Amino acid sequence: MFSRVARPSTNVLNQLVKNFSTTQAANRKVAVMGASGGIGQPLSLLVKNSPLVTELSLFDIVHTPGVAADLSHIESPAKVTGYVGADQLADSLKGCEVVVIPAGVPRKPGMTRDDLFNTNASIVAGIAKACAENCPDAVLCIISNPVNSTVPIAAEVYKKAGADPSKIFGVTTLDIVRANTFVAELKGLDPTTVNVPVIGGHAGITIIPLISQATPAVEFPADQLKALTERIQDAGTEVVKAKAGAGSATLSMAYAGARFAFSVIKALNGEEGVVECAYIRSDLTESTYFSTPIVLGPGGVAKNLGMGTLSAYEAGLVEASIPELKSSIKKGEDFVANM
Ligand SMILES: NC(=O)c1ccc[n+]([C@@H]2O[C@H](COP(=O)([O-])OP(=O)(O)OC[C@H]3O[C@@H](n4cnc5c(N)ncnc54)[C@H](O)[C@@H]3O)[C@@H](O)[C@H]2O)c1
Repeated sequence: MFSRVARPSTNVLNQLVKNFSTTQAANRKVAVMGASGGIGQPLSLLVKNSPLVTELSLFDIVHTPGVAADLSHIESPAKVTGYVGADQLADSLKGCEVVVIPAGVPRKPGMTRDDLFNTNASIVAGIAKACAENCPDAVLCIISNPVNSTVPIAAEVYKKAGADPSKIFGVTTLDIVRANTFVAELKGLDPTTVNVPVIGGHAGITIIPLISQATPAVEFPADQLKALTERIQDAGTEVVKAKAGAGSATLSMAYAGARFAFSVIKALNGEEGVVECAYIRSDLTESTYFSTPIVLGPGGVAKNLGMGTLSAYEAGLVEASIPELKSSIKKGEDFVANM
């Protein structure tokens, strides 16, 4: 049986060994939408470097021919093609099984993720429409903020287009990656062995680390637990401030996005027990989208593992997150209804 907090291996050597020691891995075509950006470029590098991927399609409104030419010289099997501009959007998606979407503007100091809504809502809606038309069976991994709204936007666009929205995922993996790192730092642990599930959404108080379910088990006094939880919730802002106007997290996000995409591909390839947290359609709370650990399968979500047993502190955080989640979801759904 899988553990609800099993941690996927992203070690490239492990992947290589696995790839060559199992029976023929399926051919996998991955698209990165927004591939020329701060996240898009390092994410595309990691995907190009993976033996799990046979074709890599790079789309952006600028610079993709250059990014594709550059990446195509790397001695890994994936064939790289660059597509640029709205005219090439449909072609960039044909035959893709996994589409990772970091297209859109990032935060500047003083901005919340919701401040990005006006620009990014239409970017994500446009890409989702093209996905519904050109690769409706692909798994969509949405990184563009505000994730709490962009995932409902993509789902509503799919419904309008008559496509099945059940393989649309909001990528919250960076919150898990940060929680693992910060817990390891505080406890003197090897960060590669730590796993902290993070549930809820991907903005401020909706980011809910479940320290009580961490593996290995860790304990903190109440004041330290509160400070740690708030640091995980505000970690994106920590990077935005440090970059002082030059954007938000890009390198750690590329790592996290690649980790999620590789988990999706492993599940598509039939690997069992692949668990990741992700922001998906959910009936576990009053919020119609909610992130929890899920078992990924060839068809998307194989099983939602739910919230597990929460501490009183964590239950309070969940309760406090619901109004904000509901309003972000409604904002996204209303946007598509009025399109
Ligand atoms: N989910 C997360 O944990 C997380 C973490 C960090 C950043 N983000 C979000 O990811 C997004 C991208 O951040 P970034 O730092 O890479 O920004 P960036 O500005 O460096 O790159 C964005 C790229 O998107 C491209 N783009 C714009 N409109 C497009 C369209 N219609 N189609 C395709 N591409 C388009 C731009 O040309 C640019 O290359 C932002 O919304 C940011 O808030 C999410």
